[in-house]
Amino acid sequence: MKTRNLYIVTYGCQMNVYDSTCLGTLMKKRGWKLAEKPEGADFIFLNTCSIREKAARRVIGHLNRLKALKQKNPALILGVGGCVAEQEGQKLLKQVPWLNLVVGPGRLGEIPQLLENLTSDMPPIVLSGQAPLMTEPAASEPQDHRALASFKDFEPGPSPISSFLTIMTGCDNYCAYCVVPYLRGRETSRPKEEILAEARSLVNRGSLELTLLGQNVNSYGRPGHRGGQDFVELLTEVANIPHLERLRFTTSHPKDFPPALVDLFGQLPNLCEHLHLPLQAGSDRILAAMGRRYDSAHYLWLVSALRAACPNLALSTDIIVGFPGETEQEFNQTVKMLESIGFDFIFSFKYSDRPMTKANLLPDKIEEKEKQRRLAHLQAVQKAITLEKHQALIGQSLEVLVDGFGRNQGQLSGRSRDLKLVHFDGPESLMGQLVMVKILEAWPVSLIGELNSNQKKALQNLN
Ligand code: 5AD
Ligand code: SF4
Repeated sequence: MKTRNLYIVTYGCQMNVYDSTCLGTLMKKRGWKLAEKPEGADFIFLNTCSIREKAARRVIGHLNRLKALKQKNPALILGVGGCVAEQEGQKLLKQVPWLNLVVGPGRLGEIPQLLENLTSDMPPIVLSGQAPLMTEPAASEPQDHRALASFKDFEPGPSPISSFLTIMTGCDNYCAYCVVPYLRGRETSRPKEEILAEARSLVNRGSLELTLLGQNVNSYGRPGHRGGQDFVELLTEVANIPHLERLRFTTSHPKDFPPALVDLFGQLPNLCEHLHLPLQAGSDRILAAMGRRYDSAHYLWLVSALRAACPNLALSTDIIVGFPGETEQEFNQTVKMLESIGFDFIFSFKYSDRPMTKANLLPDKIEEKEKQRRLAHLQAVQKAITLEKHQALIGQSLEVLVDGFGRNQGQLSGRSRDLKLVHFDGPESLMGQLVMVKILEAWPVSLIGELNSNQKKALQNLN
């Protein structure tokens, strides 16, 4: 039988990247080949994000563009997965009648089996809700794609040097603005042994860096979760895997950060000096309205405890501007928090109304133009802070994990332990290696450096 080609496009968070990798692994096991472009593919799958309206709109735009391919090749199977699929379900078929498959994030594991017999002339299939982690032993196959893409032949990605590993899914926090709990379901932890086996397998296959993923990794193993145990214990055991050079985790909720976890930053040598800790807003009234269950004082206390445990810890955060009812003064409290904490970088967003959420029903929505103004101001403030932090690194040597090419010919790029993007000139043979780079220039989003002189000498000796 002719080899069938699959083309996957991933939108959104790192969890989606991981899910797409799992799906690719499962499909390859069944003989599919991963295509590099959509033209000529037999199955095109968009793994989607619905966190903000703009992200969801992009998916529809993409599906409209794919219509031409479908017209050229009527046998093409077109599928949508992830959060837009879960949110829209059947409705998506009305908007995009040329779709064949709509699959929520909890049901991705069923796609390979479905594709065995699905043809484009059949009625479209919609799957949503959460699949059980494992079906009964008598059933033909377990359904969860994470458990299914067994770690033995797990394909690490986005690059094998640095891999993602999902340890828990779902969210029980119901922040007022957020659609995730409605689309990704209740918190579920993967069994510790399964995670450790997958982590060992990834390291054995050459991953030097692992990032443990979850909507709220700090809830890992919370009583009542299936499977998991304590997050601090899990992190410690993963960190102890021989030859694992770097360990990261994301995302953490500031209300769930026990002192034992803070202390790990000073204790585990391969736990990298970077933490993503979403603040969302600087005003206590807005934080309460968002349902975040911490206040600015708690956040500041946590930051100082983390910095006491690990003085060179880099911090990043998420901020939403223009939450319903946010006054100018409340917005300024967010700006003040950025100035007093000094984040290394931030992700900032205009509040976006999402279906099902509590904030969707709140009065006093902020006008789009005003949200845009606040966002631009916040980003300008942060740009100066980031640049200042980058400039302070000039002259220092950073350990860089080389995983890509820079924009210029002969330039390599990679991340430092504290997640700074560093470009430098060097031979391709350094790809996948840890090198020391001396920083020479600072830019708002990246640093430019040169290989340390002893590293250069070692390379000359090799040539
Ligand atoms: N509008 C704007 N930003 C949002 N986020 C989540 N929901 C919304 C929304 N409705 C942001 C939060 C979260 C990040 C992943 O996306 O800052 O931490
Ligand atoms: Fe959304 Fe809040 Fe859960 Fe994060 S913690 S996924 S923002 S509900």
